[in-house]
Amino acid sequence: MCGIVGYVGEQHPKEFLIDGLKKLEYRGYDSSGIAIKNSDNIQIIKSTGKISDLEDKVNNENLINSKLGIAHTRWATHGEANETNAHPHKVGRTTLVHNGIIENATDLKNKLVNEGVVFRSETDTEVACAVINNYYNGDPIKAITEAIKTLKGSYAFGILFEDQDKLYAVRKDSPLIVGIGEGENYIASDIAAIIKYTDKYMLLEDDEVVELTKDEVKVYKDGVKIDKEVQTSTMTIEDANKGNYKHFMLKEIMEEPIVLQRTLNKYINDMDKMVDISSYEEIHIVACGSALYAGMIGKCLLEEKANIKCMTECASEYRYKKIIYDRKTLVILVSQSGETADTIAAMRKAHEEGIDTLAIVNVKTSTIAREAKQTLFIEAGPEIAVATTKAYLLQVAMFSLIALKAAHSKGLEDNYNEILKEAKSLPDYLRKVLNDKDTFAGVGKEIKDARDAFYIGRGVDYAMCEEGSLKLKEVSYTHSDAYQAGELKHGTISLIEEGVPVFAIITNDKIKDKTESNVIEVESRQARIYTITNDPSIMNHHFKYVVEKLSDYFQPILIVPPLQLIGYYTALERGLDIDKPRNLAKSVTVE
Ligand code: G6P
Repeated sequence: MCGIVGYVGEQHPKEFLIDGLKKLEYRGYDSSGIAIKNSDNIQIIKSTGKISDLEDKVNNENLINSKLGIAHTRWATHGEANETNAHPHKVGRTTLVHNGIIENATDLKNKLVNEGVVFRSETDTEVACAVINNYYNGDPIKAITEAIKTLKGSYAFGILFEDQDKLYAVRKDSPLIVGIGEGENYIASDIAAIIKYTDKYMLLEDDEVVELTKDEVKVYKDGVKIDKEVQTSTMTIEDANKGNYKHFMLKEIMEEPIVLQRTLNKYINDMDKMVDISSYEEIHIVACGSALYAGMIGKCLLEEKANIKCMTECASEYRYKKIIYDRKTLVILVSQSGETADTIAAMRKAHEEGIDTLAIVNVKTSTIAREAKQTLFIEAGPEIAVATTKAYLLQVAMFSLIALKAAHSKGLEDNYNEILKEAKSLPDYLRKVLNDKDTFAGVGKEIKDARDAFYIGRGVDYAMCEEGSLKLKEVSYTHSDAYQAGELKHGTISLIEEGVPVFAIITNDKIKDKTESNVIEVESRQARIYTITNDPSIMNHHFKYVVEKLSDYFQPILIVPPLQLIGYYTALERGLDIDKPRNLAKSVTVE
């Protein structure tokens, strides 16, 4: 959600800035812009739509000579997606790009308007720019340090001052890294934007101000220069590219066996490394989107297997709700990016109440990874497609291991060693499912014109339905809903008509007959039934796909990839922008 890049060096910044923006496209955006400068001029070019539109505009302009610039992809929050609201914004001698939300922008704007400042856009960013400009008296570090004291909310800023040939940046609760090159230095929202140029980077803590020239990076806290560690990224250029795949989404689904193996290997040979949560009386799993649905699977496992009271809640509700912490409680935060604003707020709320937190995170440098009391890292590597696939799968796998460990510690799991053995074969079982991808491409073809689709299941199967339904709607724009199979007849069954695809997930032996009855109910109303199951004896209505039968702990790992592939292939049939679905952002860094 919003992306920032900045360059200072010996080259014209155009290539780096456009290329960097392309690498950040996956974060979600609806307009973009660049600002380049030299000691006499600053040139700003903006565009709505795709980066390629901005690139065309940039290529058609007479660009000034420059070795310094900033650029931005905007995901509109304050004001519609048009060129006026697009970044960079310029007020007086200050030009900036921003990721985040300035919460007191209205108050600040009123004050500044009274002082005679004229605003062109509807954005909070232009207000922040005016605030910094107001403090600017020839000393950039001082101006930024003072300005951020008056700004409430979240921000990552890339800043240029008219009379400085240096690049400035600062961040709070929004991601920003500093890339260290040779004879050139960079800022970027994440490493994907700079990995082609350097693998060396610095992490900025909240409110650290950085000043970059082509040869030097200086970091200041409260106006005082501090030392920062330079880190080396393990990301490769291949990670940031699609390789032979048409889309990152498919590439990332096909990577699932490898990343699963990498994640499981850390624990299955030495379960002492797995966190033991068996002493907690209550678990709250808090997350957003797919991460929440991974948590719903976790809840089923923790309750069924480890006998621990558990609730799931989306972070945007949890952060504002009255939570009664009357037992020994652990809050588990699940987040691929580790930067989701609501999940961060939920974590901080738990900390304020003195509650323990455990984070399941992919991005090791993220805010949640840094602040949570304990962290389990999934080893997904960079995930570029907006719709999460491999990271979601690993979040589920992490819950399988957490539940297994807790059940074992409580003496509730008699088959502990066999289940660990099963985990070793899991990547191979998964490979077998992915090898059948053409089968799911066939389903995508069949349902491509469907207006609605439904997913039904019970218990843990219902949790998977939620993810299957989300995948279909986010990438193929097909309206879809997930229901507990028994709930359908309390209203929704009125929507079932001839040919409506209904996906039934049936893996739970104890209640499979019940779900089968619900399937027959919708089939008798002419729905087209697609069953995904681990039981070959389940009736085939229109389509049936059977996966290997595994323990309850690991069964979901074989069921979800077909659902991801069905979402992918339906979107492919519809010719959509699969990796960057409309209106969506990979990392939702604002409320
Ligand atoms: C966005 C993404 C989803 C993701 C959710 C939570 O909505 O589009 O794919 O599940 O954020 O993201 P997180 O990084 O916290 O897992």
